[in-house]
Amino acid sequence: MYRTATCGDLRLCDQGKEVTLSGWVQRSRKLGAMTFVDMRDRYGITQVVFNQEINPELCEDAARLGREYVVQVTGKVAERTSKNPHLPTGDIEIIASSLKVLNKSEIPPFTIEENTDGGDDLRMKYRYLDLRRPGLRANIELRHRMAHEIRRYLDANGFLEIETPILVKSTPEGARDFVVPSRMNPGEFYALPQSPQIFKQLLMVSGFDRYFQLAKCFRDEDLRADRQPEFTQVDCEMSFVEQEDVIQMFEGLVKHVFKHVKGIDFAESFPRMTWADAMKFYGSDKPDTRFGMTFVELTDLVKGHGFAVMDDAELTAGICVPGCASYTRKQTDELTDFVKRPQIGAKGLVWVKYGEDKSVKSSVGKFFSEDEIKTWIDTMGANPGDLLLILSGQVAKTRKALGELRLEMGSRLELRPKNVFSPLWVIDFPLFEWDEETQRYYAMHHPFTAPNPEDIPLLRSDTGKVRATAYDIVINGTELGGGSIRIHDSELQDTMFELLGFTPEKAQEQFGFLMNAFKYGAPPHGGLALGFDRFVSMLAELDSIRDTMAFPKNNSGRDVMNESPAPLDPAQLDELCLKLVSDQE
Ligand code: AMO
Repeated sequence: MYRTATCGDLRLCDQGKEVTLSGWVQRSRKLGAMTFVDMRDRYGITQVVFNQEINPELCEDAARLGREYVVQVTGKVAERTSKNPHLPTGDIEIIASSLKVLNKSEIPPFTIEENTDGGDDLRMKYRYLDLRRPGLRANIELRHRMAHEIRRYLDANGFLEIETPILVKSTPEGARDFVVPSRMNPGEFYALPQSPQIFKQLLMVSGFDRYFQLAKCFRDEDLRADRQPEFTQVDCEMSFVEQEDVIQMFEGLVKHVFKHVKGIDFAESFPRMTWADAMKFYGSDKPDTRFGMTFVELTDLVKGHGFAVMDDAELTAGICVPGCASYTRKQTDELTDFVKRPQIGAKGLVWVKYGEDKSVKSSVGKFFSEDEIKTWIDTMGANPGDLLLILSGQVAKTRKALGELRLEMGSRLELRPKNVFSPLWVIDFPLFEWDEETQRYYAMHHPFTAPNPEDIPLLRSDTGKVRATAYDIVINGTELGGGSIRIHDSELQDTMFELLGFTPEKAQEQFGFLMNAFKYGAPPHGGLALGFDRFVSMLAELDSIRDTMAFPKNNSGRDVMNESPAPLDPAQLDELCLKLVSDQE
């Protein structure tokens, strides 16, 4: 038997027991005649003592142990003289009577401690060692607990967990596909699923009624803190439902997970906001509602004063930043530089400082009198001591830039604490999105999303105005999940494909099997998918989803541990009938 207890089990009440532990050497230190070894496993750390005076030979063996050696120790549990209140096992130690080295370790490339000396790249290369650190281990444990609670809730609500294929035909989520060549069908390729969207709809046609899956999804897109090329969705679909049914069910799921994993009870229903309001007041379809500073539009108020920037602007809007009227010139210049960054894209920033003494200072004193600026202050509901930050320009660009500035000010004022959770549903998304470059409409969610029934008459006459029956769940400015009620009528689906620029042949080629299935009695259905990695990172209060995954990719989509992606052996290329073409060719 390798062990009778784990390194996290023992307490004062075990005093006097003879135990055997197995684990890794966290560290060892010699103090006079004593050698102390901290032994670690998944469950904790226990101190082991070797006494030179009692057992000199054993003590010599202990002195030879290196970091990360795997050892087995037998000994007696004793009360520690100097207790460690930071460790659950800190009241006891093991007085060792035998020591066996189960496996030696080379000196690890970085210390396996919470505050390690290892840089990011090094830790990614040795991810299996990184995963021994308590913080990462806690994330993986949290991920497991959340998956378990999700399954418990969905099972209790009649959902069946059904797996769908990984080798599929291209799916319609709008990113690029990862593709896999087929050896048995030369010149033909599978795609990896961007989501199980079509399969879950087919399962509704099959009558399964309620489906879910913790589904691996693959998207070849630019990576960010909350995006990995390979990620997991809590993917769900339900039959005979309307938007309200889906929202209720998955609000219930999110609440269940928060309650049972994090101990947080959301008594109230999550607020709902239309997409139009989210854009108007937050400049984003995923508003961070942990704090206010919502936009106030000033377009008409500021026109006609000879200030061309505002006179020519489609939109002038601002935010009122509490308590920041005392910002220095340097600080407002910094904010101006912030909004002028290419990725934010504003041309400049107008500021107004409304002093505690009700004095007014602004960057546009040349064009506006103090009284005129006071009307802005009133309109924006500013209090003495507040700072107004105002942008002008095209509607979409100005909203986007002001949204970024709002988040920046929220962060600066520490109004975005990670342990506060502010969920909401964003509803009434537009069905289509116009793309200037290709001069055509794209589906904002995906092509199977049903239009709002009230807007069906507008489909051809005012396409851009049609609202979708689509909904996103947003928490703290992150899109946690999204879904929609689907089109289950093949005629409406044909219209949708046509509006999206598919010829009937192309639609048939790409989605023919779904369209055929819909001819055999498709029930009304809808669903949603939550980004599981994002959900875990939220509850773990992390900035990125990377450390919610045991083996993630880096920002260039590489796994630096197993060195993938990697070139293929020429023989393997031949077998797959593939030839590489260099750029010159
Ligand atoms: P959508 O494309 O909105 O919807 O994806 C659902 C959720 O998946 C998460 N997500 C990601 N997480 C990590 N890395 C990525 N690259 C990534 N991309 C998306 C997000 C997102 O909200 N089939 C539809 C769902 C449906 O209609 O039922 C779908 O995939 O949290």
